Amino acid sequence: MKKILITRRLLRSSEDKASKIFDAKFNINDELYSQEKLIKLSDGCDGILSALTDKLDAETINKLPNSVKILSNFAVGFGNIDLEAAKKRNIIVTNTPEVLTDATAEIGILLILGACRRVPEGIEAAQNSNWKWSADYLIGKQLTGTRLGILGMGRIGRKIAHIAKSLGMIVHYHNRSKLSDDKENGAIYHKDLKSFLSVSDVLSVCCPATKETTDLINKETLEYLPQGAVVTNVARGDIVNDDDLIEALNRRKVYAVGLDVYKGEPNLNPGYLKHKSAFILPHLGSASKHTRTAMADLAIDNIDEFFKDGSCKNKVN
Ligand code: GLV
Repeated sequence: MKKILITRRLLRSSEDKASKIFDAKFNINDELYSQEKLIKLSDGCDGILSALTDKLDAETINKLPNSVKILSNFAVGFGNIDLEAAKKRNIIVTNTPEVLTDATAEIGILLILGACRRVPEGIEAAQNSNWKWSADYLIGKQLTGTRLGILGMGRIGRKIAHIAKSLGMIVHYHNRSKLSDDKENGAIYHKDLKSFLSVSDVLSVCCPATKETTDLINKETLEYLPQGAVVTNVARGDIVNDDDLIEALNRRKVYAVGLDVYKGEPNLNPGYLKHKSAFILPHLGSASKHTRTAMADLAIDNIDEFFKDGSCKNKVN
């Protein structure tokens, strides 16, 4: 049996599955391992089932024991892993695409609705019994006829586009390349970021965090948005420059934000907390039993498949 370090707790059924296939080292207390501890615990292990909370940078990867042959990340995103450093050490990196598309797109839509319809203010007023119905009370932005800009039209972006269309939104998108007609499904492609942002009444950030997308939403690019735009992020905090976005909220260039992900999670820039127009969630994108089970199963299968025949369909490096 291959010895596998599983860095975070999984749902019970997934841990049961892992213990049937591997000699698995579990994290009973679900503690956040330091890089030093992770290196130490991986001693004698053939692989690591990692989570997005593990920072597997070059320094950490270079110190992993030679026995480690695979890093199976329990996430679709793998910005927490230095792919090049892993490749140099002949360590395969895998992720868990597809299985979390629907759950994450649901949260993407929730962020749009929560920010546009002033949900944080509504919850606060309802909880404090501090409201009365009136014709102009908590007027928000309706989605019907509003232009939605999808930054990164991958699986999650396309699912958000599909739901948004049914809500009457007009979908625009920016990607490195234009999609085929069936994938585009009527959405309008912008090769140019400025042209894309200038029509994004509501922006939905759905792209992966890479060197190219770090701080892509910043002081300069926020200016391209229409006055009073709504900015939402269901992807990764690293894509947004928080100080610049908070500053844009302060001067009402941005009407509201809907965020599920943050730079330096679980901490978030306190500037957001001062804004009633900030609809913020604690990284819930894939948080449903069905999806978390499917993700863990896939992360386990990726390791199993790799050791069985050397192939791995979800290899990313
Ligand atoms: C969640 O954020 C993921 O990347 O799977």
